[in-house]
Parts: sequence; C-alpha cells; structure tokens
Amino acid sequence: MSSINYSEKIPNNVNLSEDRALQRALEHWQPNYLQWWQDMGPDGSQNFDVYLRTAINTTPDGWAQFGHVKMPDYRWGIFLAAQEEGRQVNFGEHKGEAAWQDVPGEHRANLRRIIVTQGDTEPASVEQQRHLGLTCPSQYDLRNLFQVNVEEGRHLWAMVYLLHKYFGRDGREEAEALLQRNSGSEDNPRILQAFNEETPDWLAFYMFTYFTDRDGKFQLCALAESGFDPLSRTCRFMLTEEAHHMFVGESGVSRTIQRTCEVMKQVGTDDPDVLRQHGVIDLPTIQRYLNFHFSVTIDLFGADQSSNAATFYASGLKGRYEETKRGDDHQLKGEHYKILEVQGDKLVEKEVPLLNSLNEVLRDDYIKDSIAGIGRWNKVIEKAGFAFRLQAPHKAFNRHIGTFAGIRVSPDGRVISEAEWQANVRNWLATEEDRAYVASLMGRVVEPGKMANWIAPPPIGINRQAVDFEYIRFN
Ligand SMILES: [Fe+2]
Ligand SMILES: [Fe+2]
Repeated sequence: MSSINYSEKIPNNVNLSEDRALQRALEHWQPNYLQWWQDMGPDGSQNFDVYLRTAINTTPDGWAQFGHVKMPDYRWGIFLAAQEEGRQVNFGEHKGEAAWQDVPGEHRANLRRIIVTQGDTEPASVEQQRHLGLTCPSQYDLRNLFQVNVEEGRHLWAMVYLLHKYFGRDGREEAEALLQRNSGSEDNPRILQAFNEETPDWLAFYMFTYFTDRDGKFQLCALAESGFDPLSRTCRFMLTEEAHHMFVGESGVSRTIQRTCEVMKQVGTDDPDVLRQHGVIDLPTIQRYLNFHFSVTIDLFGADQSSNAATFYASGLKGRYEETKRGDDHQLKGEHYKILEVQGDKLVEKEVPLLNSLNEVLRDDYIKDSIAGIGRWNKVIEKAGFAFRLQAPHKAFNRHIGTFAGIRVSPDGRVISEAEWQANVRNWLATEEDRAYVASLMGRVVEPGKMANWIAPPPIGINRQAVDFEYIRFN
C-alpha cells in the first residue's frame, strides 16, 4: 500500500484504477490543474530541468528518488500514508469508535470546509512565490524554491482527491474553485489573509517558509489526528513533505544572518547604513521582517475563542497537536485554559472553557515551536560574537483576528496608544524603505556554486550533492 503506482496517468497509491468514475473525474481536473500551473506557477521556468525529489513510497524514508525533471512533467499524484490497522477516533464525542472510512453525514459540511480551507493555502503559496525565481540568490536556492512549489501543488492534489472522492458534486465544484481563486485577487482572493500577502523578496520567502509553512505543519498535525481516516492518512504523508519547506526557511534566514555577521566583523560596525552600503541585510531589518511574518501567521490559527474549534474537536474532525500523546481524557469537558484579555491598558489572563480555546492551544504550541528556531538563529549571532538577539514579538502584537484585533500592543507586550504605535511602528515592522532596500539586493545568481553577496552558502547541497552541483539545467 505504501508504494506508488507511477504507470498510471495520475500516480497514486489508492488503487485509483479500480474506481473508474473517480479516475475520470480527476483526469478531467488534471488539465485544468496543469493550465493553472502554466498561468500561475513559477514564472519563466517551464522548460528548466530541475533536480527534484519525488516520493517512491509513503514511508518517512521514501524519498530516495532524485532526478532532473521539467516541472510541468512532475508526477503530481495521490499519496496516502498506509492505513493503520484498528485505528480509532481518538478524541471528542465519538472517541473509541472505529475511525471513519467514509464521511459521517452529520459532519459533512464541516469536513468539507476544513478540507477546502487547507486546500486553498496550497496553490496560494505557489502564486505568492511565482516571481521569486527571477531574483534567486543561487542555483541551490532556486532549486529549493521549485521543490517547495511542486510539493505545494501536490498538496493541492491531496485535498482535491478527498473532495472528489468523498464529496460528490459539491466536492468537484470546490476543486474547480480552488483553481479559480487567486492570491491577492481583488474579486476572487484566497480564503485566508496571510495567503493574499505578497512574498516580494527572498528574505520574505525564507520567513514565509519558516513561519507560515510551520502553520501548515501544525494544521496538518491537528488534521492527521482526525477521526476521518482518509484525511488523517493524507495529512500524515503531507507532513513528510512539509519538513523540507521549513528547512528551506530556517536555513535561508540562518545563512542571511551569517553573511551579515561576517560583514559586521569585517567592517567593525553594526550601523545599518554602513552595512547596507556593503550590501547585506542588517539584523534590525531581519527582526522587522520576523515581526511581520510571525504576527500575520499566528492570525491563521483563528479567534482565541471559537465555537467552531470546539465543534470540530467534539465531532472528532480536528484534534490537537500530538493529540494521542497527551495524557488527558481527550474529551476536555469541564476543563479550562488561560487566554489573554485586554482590561483597560493591561493584558490579563482569564480562564475559559478549554474546548472553546482550541485555536489558542494550537497557536501556543506553534509559538513554542517557532521560538526554538529563533534560538538557533541567535546561536549564529552569538557565535560571531555579537550581542544582538532576535526575538518573537508578543502574541498580541500586530494582530488582526481575535481579542487583539484593533488594539495596539508593542512587541514587548504593552498595550499602547495609537500615537505611541504610530511613533514606533517603523522600528517594529518592515517599512517601505526596508523592503525597497532588500528588493535592491535581489539580483539573479545562477552560476553553479555562486551566491548573492547578501547570503552565505549552505554547508552542504541537496541529497548530499556539492553546493556547486548543477541543480538546474536552464536549456
Ligand atoms: Fe503545503
Ligand atoms: Fe509547505
């Protein structure tokens, strides 16, 4: 079951050929997908041969296959993790029942909504990143961008498979709509706001893959716990792909910091103006980018109190991060959780029913995980001998969803006036000038092994290849 059949038009490990109607429906969707890739996928790259990995099976080490492929010929398909014998619904009111192999009628609308919302983010990020190939800092990075892009395309396939197989005509319509909405479009935007923001430069791309793909990880982890078994199995395999995306982000920011520190040492100053004259990105600018991406991304977890989140949990559709590793009763009735609330000019803790706070629980787990990587970035600065430290802003900073929407909070967590916000926001969030400066550094570097001046080389290439390996043949 874990090995993938590549002999069919749509590679899959779900015995697609045994379900003729489904196979036909997906083969009908396939050219529309490819058209979308032509129109909205990586700009000017259709003819490149790219050194990509393709799954050969769905076990964690099933990534053995690397080779040069033209991206439009990438074998997108349908890969589910193996079915676990005897798996149960592990939380909520149905806890202990056998995991569902079909959609329970009463949860159909909610499940469809969950799948469509997840599915919508996948092509959105490809659209957000489509111009980045024109300004890549190296061939190695260009290859990583393309790998992320083809896998986000594959994640769209994953959700479209579920829609087609389990949701009949509504599902097919939703699958078409996933190709029609576009990131940033005025009249038909993507569902979630972070996926309508621009990713205009490579620092933004690394921040996005570090922070926003990590949101993906947490959402997928919560859905991998689902009582609806096909969703769980799909998400479990998607998670193995997601790890590389976060690696691209973490190592990209890390290499940017490393290069900045090298130049700080060479010229003996941390003065941003001087560093900018030397063509690297000063650490305060990196902090302002971080503040933006962190705050926009934690909005994705939704309102801090949510009856939808309670319903999704109680119905067994969406669990917590590492649900089955937790030692409680997995029903959570009568349990409480501390969330923050604004009282006057203070943020105070307040106990609320845990079931209603599950968005906040997932956000807090996410924040813990994000901060760990920021610590690793700080190690690079520390090792170079500098005192500057990057920090995650307070979770109430720059929020647009939930309790903190519409109030002003500084990165260190003080409730402040509009006047204080306006006087300081240029120090807290990347400004037009910051973005224009970073944009001015973005030139295309594609000679094998060469790096743009603002970023250090990676310690090792992809699949243990050399850094100057020919990752892309431009033809
Ligand atoms: Fe994804
Ligand atoms: Fe991703």
